[in-house]
Amino acid sequence: MVQKLLVLGIESSCDETGAALVEFEASAAVTQIPSLLSHALFSQIEMHQAFGGVVPELASRDHIRRVLPLISQVLQTAGRTLAELDVIAYTRGPGLAGALLVGAGVACALGAALGKPVLGVHHLEGHLLSPFLSADPPQFPFVALLVSGGHTQLMRVDGVGRYQLLGESIDDAAGEAFDKSAKLMGLDYPGGPLLARMAEQGNPKAYALPRPLLHSGNLDFSFAGLKTAVLVQAQKMRTAAGVAQFQDLDPLQQRDLAASTQAAIVDVLLKKSMTALKETGLKRLVVAGGVGANRHLRSQLDEACAKRQVRVHYPELHLCTDNGAMIALAAAMRLQSGMQQPTMHYAFDVKPRWPLAAL
Ligand code: KG4
Ligand code: ZN
Repeated sequence: MVQKLLVLGIESSCDETGAALVEFEASAAVTQIPSLLSHALFSQIEMHQAFGGVVPELASRDHIRRVLPLISQVLQTAGRTLAELDVIAYTRGPGLAGALLVGAGVACALGAALGKPVLGVHHLEGHLLSPFLSADPPQFPFVALLVSGGHTQLMRVDGVGRYQLLGESIDDAAGEAFDKSAKLMGLDYPGGPLLARMAEQGNPKAYALPRPLLHSGNLDFSFAGLKTAVLVQAQKMRTAAGVAQFQDLDPLQQRDLAASTQAAIVDVLLKKSMTALKETGLKRLVVAGGVGANRHLRSQLDEACAKRQVRVHYPELHLCTDNGAMIALAAAMRLQSGMQQPTMHYAFDVKPRWPLAAL
């Protein structure tokens, strides 16, 4: 009989506290994707909105308040107990140091108290593997477009832990470009999804914005200049209309600038992804991270991939942004593939900066 192992995953790298239970068959011969039994999330977005961005100290304190109730919740939902856990996984990095320490501390304290091993997970590996929990899971190998709030990377993925960086942002991430542009349009933090909603009714060709590094000949990205171009365009529009605030402009103009900004970001992500597929010769693309929820990005990628007979996979919408399910899943997949063993050493450390390619 194949032994089944139960993993608790804890995510606390930024402004979302997540917990989840994943079960997997502990045999290298079995390639069955681990199953998600339950997951729970608490988003701190409302708390940080008042400050226009994440306040690290407040984030850490709130993780402390939320993490144990969330763990109880996922155990109760799945009808399991603490004693049934086989491994306790937590996000080890990258992220905010104080926030990471909460998840790591709780995971290691639980592990020590229960006599269960622990495993520190790379947050981006969690995002990268999250499409395996979708109704249409990918198969290795594939090109991954990782687009989160802090990272924009193209990777060649040949298996669990076999990641080759093809290109990445040399400054702002795509999510940051969305958020910073949204901020100067007067939208609340995090502005990405709000800008995307505004863009839906705008004309993406209304304003000519730069597509940085589009023809750079490599797979790197740069979004810092785009944000400046959006700022300059917004200033021009305000001056022409004689208004002090972006929100005082004609709503049509506001929507057009949102749509033009989104189009510029998506255009670059699309073209570079297609180049990565061409250069690697792979016929599968996996999109992960918060910006992967963007509808315009999804429709553009779907269209371009269909033309090239490329299969494209996304995480379920609710698993695009940070969550505990992806952390439990990444731990389970690492254990299942024999890439890593959990440890009974509870002297944890976190890695606020941790390149995925270093795994
Ligand atoms: O992966 P994630 O939850 O956090 C990090 O690990 O960074 O990504 C958050 C980012 C934010 O920048 C947020 O604005 C962006 O994802 N985002 C979106 C959308 N939903 C989330 N950006 C554009 N369109 C969306 N629909
Ligand atoms: Zn993330």
